[in-house]
Amino acid sequence: MAEYHEKIIIKGVEIHLVDPPQLDVDWVGMQEPLTQLLASWTDDGDDPPMQPRILGKPGVGKTSLAIKAARMMGQDLYITQCTVDTKPEDLIISPVIADNGKIRYVASPLVSAMVRGGICLLDEGNRMSEKSWASIAPLLDMRRSVYSIVAGVEIKASPNFRVCVTMNEDASTFEVPEYIHSRLQPAIHMDFPTRDEEFRILRGKLDGPSDELLREVVNILQESHARDEDLSIRDGLNIARYAYRLLKHKAAANEREAIDQSHLQITGDNRASLDGPTLV
Ligand SMILES: Nc1ncnc2c1ncn2[C@@H]1O[C@H](COP(=O)(O)OP(=O)(O)OP(=O)(O)O)[C@@H](O)[C@H]1O
Ligand SMILES: [Mg+2]
Repeated sequence: MAEYHEKIIIKGVEIHLVDPPQLDVDWVGMQEPLTQLLASWTDDGDDPPMQPRILGKPGVGKTSLAIKAARMMGQDLYITQCTVDTKPEDLIISPVIADNGKIRYVASPLVSAMVRGGICLLDEGNRMSEKSWASIAPLLDMRRSVYSIVAGVEIKASPNFRVCVTMNEDASTFEVPEYIHSRLQPAIHMDFPTRDEEFRILRGKLDGPSDELLREVVNILQESHARDEDLSIRDGLNIARYAYRLLKHKAAANEREAIDQSHLQITGDNRASLDGPTLV
């Protein structure tokens, strides 16, 4: 069973907190959404921090943006992955059977961040049902608290607590209800990076592939963005890293062949080998 490092007592009820993951990202360019996120989180005297929603296509860098901003604030980032199955207690406090057969109350990443004054990212929030959103509605207004039905306690957020939500623009599972939507403000839109930024992101993450190979992959990405298709930086990273491996294992004769093969296998796009851009 996992070890929970810290316990707190609220009204006589023992609650185990979880620790944040250790995350970092070498953020490249894209200063506008970063500044907007930091601005929305500012504690403006009597006015509490805002609760932005970060919008953009899959793989555009939404989660990484939150990681970078939390780092810049010097706070830990806790992440709750939202799914269609996320229940209110997953968001607040879950009962777990401990080794001694007794019930142990385990705080979610959200509640752990509230108690410790961290930042919580509700990742892919638009996958979550209205019932789950309703359970954290009081957290998103002046009350800044949640009530755990399971443990029978109210938990108040530290003044340093911040929250943001990411939403994939094209993969909405539920309509987020209007009263929640109006609490998740402002909307921070993320577009695909520029050609130069995309190259620098790939270069920063991959040591092996040559500059030429990476430039060619960036061409593929930029052409896809221009056609409003959905190849993302993550796809670009995978195309480049697999092409490099094919070359290293002599499974492709040259970079052109390796990129075409990799493009085909990563994206399943049959056109990759037919009309891909040529190496310069
Ligand atoms: N500006 C950037 N600087 C550095 N790395 C970036 C940047 N933008 C994206 N990346 C990298 O691109 C990849 C995808 O980013 P990330 O996972 O943050 O996207 P996402 O929008 O959260 O995706 P999803 O919608 O699938 O959750 C990661 O490897 C990330 O580090
Ligand atoms: Mg993400």
